[in-house]
Amino acid sequence: MRHFTSVYDLPNLEDAVKLAREIKQNPYGYQHLGKNKTMVLIFFDSSLRTRLSTQKAAMNLGMNVMVLNVKQDGWSLETELGVVMDGDKPEHLREAIPVIGTYCDVIGVRAFARFESKEDDYQEKILNQFIEFAGVPVVSMEAATRHPLQSFADLITIEEFKKRPKPKVVITWAPHPKALPQAVPNSFIEWMRQTDYELVVTHPEGYELAPEFMGDLKVEYDQKKAFEGADFIYAKNWSAYEKYGKILSRDMDWTVTMEKMKLTNNARFMHCLPVRRNMIVTDEVLDSDRSIVVKEAENRVYSAQAVLKMILEQIK
Ligand code: CP
Repeated sequence: MRHFTSVYDLPNLEDAVKLAREIKQNPYGYQHLGKNKTMVLIFFDSSLRTRLSTQKAAMNLGMNVMVLNVKQDGWSLETELGVVMDGDKPEHLREAIPVIGTYCDVIGVRAFARFESKEDDYQEKILNQFIEFAGVPVVSMEAATRHPLQSFADLITIEEFKKRPKPKVVITWAPHPKALPQAVPNSFIEWMRQTDYELVVTHPEGYELAPEFMGDLKVEYDQKKAFEGADFIYAKNWSAYEKYGKILSRDMDWTVTMEKMKLTNNARFMHCLPVRRNMIVTDEVLDSDRSIVVKEAENRVYSAQAVLKMILEQIK
């Protein structure tokens, strides 16, 4: 594996999950792989978990790590080709990316959807420039349309907590005050569709996700019906795909409550975090033993470490 931007980059999903779980038991077992290797983490957008867990994963593998927060630390970067750069962005990605590539062996990049153009976002214009110009492997730390390190950690977590071989996993839209990208639900659905779990997607009308992620999955528009018998409830807000980036509903009837959790098969509650309490999910659910959000965040270290191990083995 050279780059990691989606589940399709993994040689084998089952083996990858096994590897991550093995690494979790013995996190320092592959320190030799990262000796004298450097990872640069580039953030165009904010982060708590991704920054710290990916840094920890790289350090566990013996790598050196440098972090660049583009907005705070670097020059503002122009991302469009062919523009006259007479504005407030003094450097172009076209130079910045290969320069960064000369300082490291692996680049991690976070660049969310910009919501200026659905086409630009869904063509992953920033991530793909990194892949084209970096000259070193690139790991997506959440791009415009996918968050693969998160989905990998979600899958590890479900494997750890599932009580039956083919659990019912429900992803539900929930309300939020701001317009959020579709990367997490797109990616979660993409990864879950590679398993033999029963996957149910529920959201209000108008929040249909891109066909390339949904495939032949049908939406259950009745959230309570979707919750019946579920083993895992994965909550997430996203903005509309068709009316791109729009908030169509703030309906608090979609908040995950303990009443709704009682419809499930003692389901565990999951969310990628950060989570808006009493918008997405009530305090009562988050503070109960149903919630496994912290375990899920912990697994971000091991998803990143498994990915980096596979990349380091290829560049040795
Ligand atoms: N889940 C996740 O990616 O968290 P951060 O945005 O804090 O990195």
